[in-house]
Amino acid sequence: MAEDAVQPNADARPASGLAESPFLLACRREPVPHTPVWFMRQAGRSLPEYLRVREGVPMLEACTRQDMIVEITMQPVRRYAIDAAIFFSDIMVPLKAIGVDLDIKPGIGPVIADPIRDASGIDAIRELTPDDVPYVTESVRALLGELGSTPLIGFAGAPFTLASYLIEGGPSRNHDHTKAMMYGAPELWNRLMERLTDMTIAYLKVQVAAGVSAIQLFDSWVGAVAPEDYRDSVLPHTSRIFREIESLGVPRIHFGVGTGELLGLMGEAGADVVGVDWRVPLDEAARRVPPGKALQGNLDPAMLFAPWETIERRAKDVIDRGRTAEGHVFNLGHGVTPTIDPDVLARLAEFVHEYSAR
Ligand code: CP3
Repeated sequence: MAEDAVQPNADARPASGLAESPFLLACRREPVPHTPVWFMRQAGRSLPEYLRVREGVPMLEACTRQDMIVEITMQPVRRYAIDAAIFFSDIMVPLKAIGVDLDIKPGIGPVIADPIRDASGIDAIRELTPDDVPYVTESVRALLGELGSTPLIGFAGAPFTLASYLIEGGPSRNHDHTKAMMYGAPELWNRLMERLTDMTIAYLKVQVAAGVSAIQLFDSWVGAVAPEDYRDSVLPHTSRIFREIESLGVPRIHFGVGTGELLGLMGEAGADVVGVDWRVPLDEAARRVPPGKALQGNLDPAMLFAPWETIERRAKDVIDRGRTAEGHVFNLGHGVTPTIDPDVLARLAEFVHEYSAR
């Protein structure tokens, strides 16, 4: 299955060019010709061409249509001098694919019809098979031909962040219901986390079998958890994900927001690259993670609203501090926001290459 999945595009994609791409070199902590750069949420509402193709098509429908997935994934690659593409999808897609009744509402985010609060809800989370997401396999294969030697990053939501959406029923500031289950009903919590972990492992394996060159696990909201609780209630599950996909041989990136106090533990979870938000300077982050990790980050996305001179100075600072890490992939500290000017991102990507090549 895995071999079949990658073969059809083997000619269109010289393996050597891909393997030596600056992004993959940096993930493996090898020397790079310049610091590689990509932007979380580089595809999306900040691009007029995205708004045009998405017109009248609901988000979750767009995520199941090969034509849309391929076009939207390619849009930022055409515009920016970026070193990687990220598969256009959403962290909620695998849950929808196994039958969870949910929607992604514009301006709100994921909304769950029946929030999970008890054992019966948990039993609805079943393991995912490749047949649940044929459009993922087909779109990844189609993208490999288009991307040539530009790596494609696959991704999934981490169990904590998915659990938070499922338990709260939607976006949440305090994650009260989630923490109530985590602290008050640890057996239930662990059962839910185990099921989400199994689903996520299966989903990442589908993407790697289809040909993605790296994967990123988004634990966007795990910064809400204290280190001791992370160690007891989150780490065992996240570690299992990284352990079970290690043999697939693609770099694994682990990212969360507000995770300054968790960086050491997130490093222990087993990823090759630890994503850092804008709150912790990269030289400090390098001290907090265990040896043997590359870092990804971490310009504040809001910095892109500042005058260019300020952006340039702060980008230099990120690159200089990034040099203290064993490997560095330049990124924002969180996703591109919808009102960011794409021309500023284009200039930033070029600047990262220029400045870091010196
Ligand atoms: O990075 C990329 O370019 C790839 C695309 C991508 C999307 N979602 C597309 C999207 C990725 C990697 C995600 C992951 C995702 N989805 C995360 C983790 C990353 C993060 O930002 O921390 C999270 C927490 C979600 C859940 C989610 N989906 C939110 C909070 C929203 C925004 C809701 C809103 O309207 O403000 C979504 C919807 C979503 N996912 C959009 C896009 C382009 C916007 C929907 C639209 O265009 O109609």
